[in-house]
Amino acid sequence: MSKPIIAPSILAADFANLEREVKMINGSVANWIHVDIMDGVFVPNLSMGLPVVEAIKKHATKPLDVHLMIVNPEKYVEAFYKAGAEVISVHQEACAHLHRNIQQIKAMGIKAGVALNPHTPAASLSEIIADVDLVCMMSVNPGFGGQKFIENTYSKVKEIKQLILQKNSKAVIEIDGGVNMANARPLLDAGADVLVAGNFVFTSEHPSDTIQRLKSV
Ligand code: DX5
Ligand code: ZN
Repeated sequence: MSKPIIAPSILAADFANLEREVKMINGSVANWIHVDIMDGVFVPNLSMGLPVVEAIKKHATKPLDVHLMIVNPEKYVEAFYKAGAEVISVHQEACAHLHRNIQQIKAMGIKAGVALNPHTPAASLSEIIADVDLVCMMSVNPGFGGQKFIENTYSKVKEIKQLILQKNSKAVIEIDGGVNMANARPLLDAGADVLVAGNFVFTSEHPSDTIQRLKSV
């Protein structure tokens, strides 16, 4: 059984001590650093912008997995690439020209992901799944950390996994929102490859041990 990719979400970190938090992730068994970008339009919250991503990059030894919860992401993907992103996901619901947006990200030589809100059907990815490197499945409504995991996610992961196999896609499935020790193993059994975890990691007493526990769940 291969181990999951663990991507702690920096949104739940102590922003007054970002260097320390990034170094904690560097020293842990985490694989990526998940970075949530919110614009107050696509989602009802603001998070961070390019200068903060650049600051994270300055200390990070692990790839930045940038999740764009913004409208018109095509205007910003190049800037996030230049700021150090190695994975960029755009929301299906925010892209009228998703295929073009995915190609734009891939043309920069980095991984391209599509993110899906909880209500967006798995089948809506049928014509794009073969082109993406990652599906970021929201298991909460995007916009805030620390929300309750939506149970319907399990069956949706299975559906997306089926679609991936059917269409011969190389995409990995990332679960984003409310991940903890109770749902991590069932999610992996359903077909997930990447676990994002924000509050579960950063509110725990020993974040790097928590990352280790998720890795070997
Ligand atoms: C939600 C974000 C998530 C969030 C996850 O809009 O996309 O990445 O940081 O945080 P937790 O694990 O606390 O739900
Ligand atoms: Zn996210």
